[in-house]
Amino acid sequence: MIFSTINKKGGVGKTAFSFSIAKDLDLFLQSNDSSIIESIYPNKAKISTRPSLIDNCVYDFGGFIQSGVLEIAKASKAILIPCTPLYNSLLKTIETIQELQALKVPLMVLITDYQSLEEQDQARSTLQSNFTDLNFFFFKHSRIIENSMRKGLSFKELSMQTPLSRIHYKTFITEYQRLLDTLTQGASDA
Ligand SMILES: Nc1ncnc2c1ncn2[C@@H]1O[C@H](COP(=O)(O)OP(=O)(O)OP(=O)(O)O)[C@@H](O)[C@H]1O
Ligand SMILES: [Mg+2]
Repeated sequence: MIFSTINKKGGVGKTAFSFSIAKDLDLFLQSNDSSIIESIYPNKAKISTRPSLIDNCVYDFGGFIQSGVLEIAKASKAILIPCTPLYNSLLKTIETIQELQALKVPLMVLITDYQSLEEQDQARSTLQSNFTDLNFFFFKHSRIIENSMRKGLSFKELSMQTPLSRIHYKTFITEYQRLLDTLTQGASDA
């Protein structure tokens, strides 16, 4: 099972989502971008300018889309595209999707870091008016992103830490679980 997380836009949560998904699904994690993943996910995470294609891995691709990236993206079961509702993020996301569409890999758009339903809806409809066949998941602004990376815990691990965190992160985790279920769908059919 291989997944790639890609968006030309920086600071949208690529590394945070990649790390959490890798940890929750017990997958390796590779990135072509510097981050703290090697220290918070020892033995399973690796940073390299040229990530190698291996099975059971989540790839966190920072920066632009090079040829080696496309090869791995093509071999992926799904591509995750986190996108915030800011104008510039939407523009870069549209550019990113345009480059990835031809690969015929299911695209999971994570509308993230929005503050209101209006913002959420505007981001979704902007992308929907440019493309068909996108799958959408919604993650409202939450401290869980920052806390996860800071504590080296996946979103699920973090939410299960205390009774209060379970309640606090409930909406986020319900949607995150829907994402994990979608990603692993059919995994045991093969
Ligand atoms: N739901 C959310 N709640 C809070 N912050 C979020 C959310 N979604 C995304 N973020 C953003 O995630 C960012 C940090 O994430 P991360 O480092 O994973 O981004 P990235 O896309 O990997 O960036 P880079 O391109 O620099 O590697 C924060 O700046 C924060 O704004
Ligand atoms: Mg990153």
